[in-house]
Amino acid sequence: DWKMSSFAKESIQSIKEKIGDKKVLCALSGGVDSSVAAVMIHKAVGKQLTCIFVDHGLLRKHEGDQVEEVFRKQFDINLIRVNAQDRFLSRLEGVSDPETKRKIIGEEFIRVFEDEAKKIGTVDFLVQGTIYPDVIESGAGNAAVIKSHHNVGGLPDHVDFKEIIEPLRNLFKDEVRRVGEELEIPHELVWRQPFPGPGLAIRIIGDVTREKLEILQDSDHIFREEIAACGMERQINQYFTVLTGMRSVGVMGDERTYDYTLALRAVTTTDFMTADWARIPYDTLEKVSNRIVNEVKHINRIVYDITSKPPATIEWE
Ligand code: XMP
Repeated sequence: DWKMSSFAKESIQSIKEKIGDKKVLCALSGGVDSSVAAVMIHKAVGKQLTCIFVDHGLLRKHEGDQVEEVFRKQFDINLIRVNAQDRFLSRLEGVSDPETKRKIIGEEFIRVFEDEAKKIGTVDFLVQGTIYPDVIESGAGNAAVIKSHHNVGGLPDHVDFKEIIEPLRNLFKDEVRRVGEELEIPHELVWRQPFPGPGLAIRIIGDVTREKLEILQDSDHIFREEIAACGMERQINQYFTVLTGMRSVGVMGDERTYDYTLALRAVTTTDFMTADWARIPYDTLEKVSNRIVNEVKHINRIVYDITSKPPATIEWE
């Protein structure tokens, strides 16, 4: 891909000239955009870049470790991982309202980032993984906000920096992915399905607890394994499990159970503004269902969400 390859080369060169011998800070989320931005800056200035990865503990199973592995081991980037699950869980305790959860997570994210950035002191540049659609979206005429879609909750106010660098500001998502491939960022990361900033917290209906998070991570992991096994990974644009707040009666061996209902959500879409439910083969659904009830405790019933968007949304919160 010579176009993206020359884009990457030229940008890295101009970033290098701009930064000189100064210090740069980047908030890494593990998502495609911030990852590609961070690797570009790293190629330009190496150890002058420090990445802060705030792990809010609401990520998918093993995801935090994978981020650390890629950036530390493969790229040898200066990475600070902040394991902040306790902090987030205690702020979220007893909170059920979806928008309140988003707000708390967005604010806490910035606070944790700032606390960490303070230890580093003044930096000259702050990297943002802003892409072209974000630039348009944050512009005028976007009043109809159904859910507040803040990724990392905006810009920190208490971090000392002089200038923002946005290396992806003119790129569309598919171009960002191509640059990612060019920079040899692992395939799974470059082609990762979208994942909301507030993470699994908005896939647990009602209040978030450590136990529910574990149930959700384990069930989601199984669902993803089976979708990969049946070869539908690329056809389905987003798929995940949702822990409904509903419990119902079931039977396990000779025992009556009273446990959670888990929903499977899988959609096909081009723009995420409208979406259709994915026609997953019955055999795969059967396998997913059997595995989850057998392998994950406290789930005794599985339902498949067959609503399109609209009228439903992709996420349940
Ligand atoms: P909905 O549920 O509104 O989702 O159909 C559309 C897309 O946006 C993602 N989404 C979010 N992304 N922060 C994010 O960064 C959020 O609060 C958030 N809520 C939804 C969702 O996963 C889907 O891809």
